[in-house]
Amino acid sequence: MIPVSEPDISEKEIDYVTDAVRSGWVSSHGKYIDEFESKFSKFIGTKYGLTVSNGTAALHLALSALGIKNGDEVIVPDLTFISPVNAVLYNNATPVLCDVTKKDWCIDTDKIESLINNKTKAIIAVHLYGNSANMDKLMEIKKKYNLYLIEDTAESLGTEYKGKRLGSFGDVGCFSFYGNKTMTTGEGGFCTTNNEELYNKMLILRDHGMTSKKRYWHEFIGYNYRMTNMQAALGLAQLERLNYFIGKKREIAKYYYNNLKDYVITHPIGENYNGTYWLYSILMKNEDDRNSLMNFLYKNGIDTRRFFYPAHEMPPYKKYDMGNYDKSKYLSETGLNLPSSVKLNKEDINYISEKIVELIKKLHGERFNI
Ligand SMILES: Cc1ncc(COP(=O)(O)O)c(C=O)c1O
Repeated sequence: MIPVSEPDISEKEIDYVTDAVRSGWVSSHGKYIDEFESKFSKFIGTKYGLTVSNGTAALHLALSALGIKNGDEVIVPDLTFISPVNAVLYNNATPVLCDVTKKDWCIDTDKIESLINNKTKAIIAVHLYGNSANMDKLMEIKKKYNLYLIEDTAESLGTEYKGKRLGSFGDVGCFSFYGNKTMTTGEGGFCTTNNEELYNKMLILRDHGMTSKKRYWHEFIGYNYRMTNMQAALGLAQLERLNYFIGKKREIAKYYYNNLKDYVITHPIGENYNGTYWLYSILMKNEDDRNSLMNFLYKNGIDTRRFFYPAHEMPPYKKYDMGNYDKSKYLSETGLNLPSSVKLNKEDINYISEKIVELIKKLHGERFNI
């Protein structure tokens, strides 16, 4: 099977991880943690940054450090991997689900203002599948209503909005380094910020709420959200190859676009951002076509992924349904993530594209004219 995504581990990663293991610094202290934290923050363009155990922990830590609690409302897109919605619920706050746009597949900034009231404390902007949310508008809303902004950048590592990397705009940028992400630490995550106070609060909460001045004195109820030095070693090696990964993702996107643009709705190309196409994605005419394509590709040795389900449709989140999610539903029904691993070459992309075109011709007997 051609996988949707797989990590690219070179000798460099093996060397760094071996060094970390040999050093004996196998838990959450060590040179790789320090170096990875400082170099990753620099790559994103923030003053501070800290490693955490995974992307969901990054979101939970950010919300906790911002003081999000019972009675607060946090606006979250309806079409997302579920972590940001869950992270709001972990703090007993209320997720307010907002529809997304057809243009960038991210939160619809024209609909956010109608969801704001005096309980609203924050917005989590999820940058989906390598795209970017409308950061100009989000920053404007943040200022106007004095809200916190968290960027969930798990899927858009390296994407630049008007030349500035995502994860450096909001109060906190959250990242995941799960094995299918643009770079990996196995499991792992990261919080970036320019706010020193927030950084210090996140450091304390990451380590059981213990103050750095007085050992075993707990000022807050914290968590153990630390990353290990071994994971940071893997992360550092991957970070040193990140520009190569991003270049490959953009190259894969170009091949897919050229092969498929006449047959399907192709992955958005940002007007204001330079996307990183974590998973190159297409939209089919309807749900049946999307499902037929998935099955057909599977039979031909090509793995794919349907888009996320709209959050408001799933049992734990139905009660947060605010009424209108046309775009989220449409994208969820028609969207498909294609194989996007950096190990794929032009021939692989041509083969996958040929199979897609073959099925579309079988279904419609002609060019799929949208
Ligand atoms: C948008 C988004 N947010 C958060 C996460 C959660 O990250 P993790 O799996 O590392 O907890 C993921 C993916 O895994 C994601 O795609």
